[in-house]
Amino acid sequence: MGRVLLIGAKSDVARALAHEFGAAGYDLILAARKSRELERDRADLMIRYNVGVQVEELDITDLEQLHTWYATLEPKPDTAISVVGLLGVQEEAQADWQSAKRAYETNLTGPALLLETIAADFEQRNEGTICGISSVAGERGRKSNYLYGSAKAGFSEYLSGLRNRLAKSNVHVVTVKPGFIDTKMTEGMPLPAPLTAQPEQVAKDIFKACMKKKNVIYTLWMWRWIMAIIRNIPEPIFKKLDL
Ligand SMILES: NC(=O)c1ccc[n+]([C@@H]2O[C@H](COP(=O)([O-])OP(=O)(O)OC[C@H]3O[C@@H](n4cnc5c(N)ncnc54)[C@H](OP(=O)(O)O)[C@@H]3O)[C@@H](O)[C@H]2O)c1
Repeated sequence: MGRVLLIGAKSDVARALAHEFGAAGYDLILAARKSRELERDRADLMIRYNVGVQVEELDITDLEQLHTWYATLEPKPDTAISVVGLLGVQEEAQADWQSAKRAYETNLTGPALLLETIAADFEQRNEGTICGISSVAGERGRKSNYLYGSAKAGFSEYLSGLRNRLAKSNVHVVTVKPGFIDTKMTEGMPLPAPLTAQPEQVAKDIFKACMKKKNVIYTLWMWRWIMAIIRNIPEPIFKKLDL
């Protein structure tokens, strides 16, 4: 089949993705910080799906190391999915410069720099799929999460440019824009059930989007229309809303 690299493999969505790709016969490379916590997943995935599973240590904010990390990674994947993300607390990030820096490095700079290295490899091999998990939060900045949101906006635009660059190289780029997902990132938040996806549903949508070479997907699907409305609220009104 193929080999998929999951960047941020301890995330609830990435764990569900490991099952989707494993069940389809893909070998798996699980990259995460404190990656030893993935040893049990590794054994389970290997037995369950009879695929190769390797676990790699990776801190996406270790910017100077990202190029070397990928250069020394063997064997190389043919699908790479960036699932890594950090919501953080907006007020904390406003008050603490280091925390704001961490939000940008985790959600934008780190993922984009690593995917850039991977893109060069895929482009040269003339094959591959790159998928980035962004967010609907990147579609319009609001006071409750604009540091996270603006990093995701940058990440979406990065993926858009990458897709344009690689369109003629047989390398496909998928942008995923989830709305709410019931994961440890949103634990304790009062999320509206009809608009909230389970990680397994999101993973199915992502798997399908990679297989069908979709460009941009929203998950759950209705977020495409919700965001179309939100994007069209006139700024004089939008700036006064308590969002
Ligand atoms: N949940 C939502 O409602 C929602 C909505 C829109 C978009 N998203 C996006 O969906 C993706 C998956 O998130 P999720 O909901 O599954 O949340 P999650 O379980 O909290 O996953 C985020 C993952 O990112 C990893 N991470 C954070 N900083 C890292 C670093 N410096 N180096 C390596 N890994 C790092 C975390 O690692 P640790 O496990 O070690 O902490 C965690 O496993 C993220 O990109 C998120 O922004 C989520």
